[in-house]
Amino acid sequence: MTTVPPSLFGRRLLLRAGQRADAAALHRIRCQPSVSEWWGVAHSKEHEIAAELRGESDEVLFVIEVDGEVAGSIQYSEENEPDYRQAGMDIYLAEAFQGRGLGAEAIAVLAGYLIDERGHHRLTIDPAVDNAGAIRCYVRVGFRRVGVMRCCERAPDGSWRDALLLDLLADELIRSPVQSAGQSR
Ligand SMILES: CC(C)(COP(=O)(O)OP(=O)(O)OC[C@H]1O[C@@H](n2cnc3c(N)ncnc32)[C@H](O)[C@@H]1OP(=O)(O)O)[C@@H](O)C(=O)NCCC(=O)NCCS
Repeated sequence: MTTVPPSLFGRRLLLRAGQRADAAALHRIRCQPSVSEWWGVAHSKEHEIAAELRGESDEVLFVIEVDGEVAGSIQYSEENEPDYRQAGMDIYLAEAFQGRGLGAEAIAVLAGYLIDERGHHRLTIDPAVDNAGAIRCYVRVGFRRVGVMRCCERAPDGSWRDALLLDLLADELIRSPVQSAGQSR
């Protein structure tokens, strides 16, 4: 069943359901070097992104909008088997929107929704171990390091690389992550 996500509001951003017209903008963002380095190139063709926007995957995808502009995307997937129920998240921002605390804000808004509205007690996220900016961003929202998942994802050069599993329990969420120094830029 396709889940149509609601609109979620942060202080500076809106998370909203994606539309067909968003595919081109998201494709351009996914081709930016600082995004493709960590996000990978698999499933990054425009028609594949359009399919994601139509909800044809297990992930529920939101477009991140800042001042009316498409700034990136954030998504979640749920494990709904009752004894293992939890949700995983993933995010990317266009280069122009990185380093201003918007990533932490988007993660905090979506995590709040997953805890308050979807009833999750545990959330996970798993950046590459070398993605220091992403790890710092997630820790700022309350995620804690669980451990390294060895050779877990393919790097752009085709080699396998390690990822860091982080998790967050509901009462650990920092709903208003401290603004970063770069935010006023
Ligand atoms: C990862 C991402 C979502 C983070 O969002 P963001 O808005 O850029 O991050 P924030 O500004 O909220 O926080 C970044 C923090 O990391 C720090 N940081 C940035 N680059 C860093 C680096 N190379 N090494 C160490 N710290 C770094 C910043 O100073 C900031 O720290 P602070 O909270 O102490 O000020 C965003 O940068 C992005 O989309 N990157 C490209 C795609 C990607 O990596 N996606 C994640 C896949 S798991």
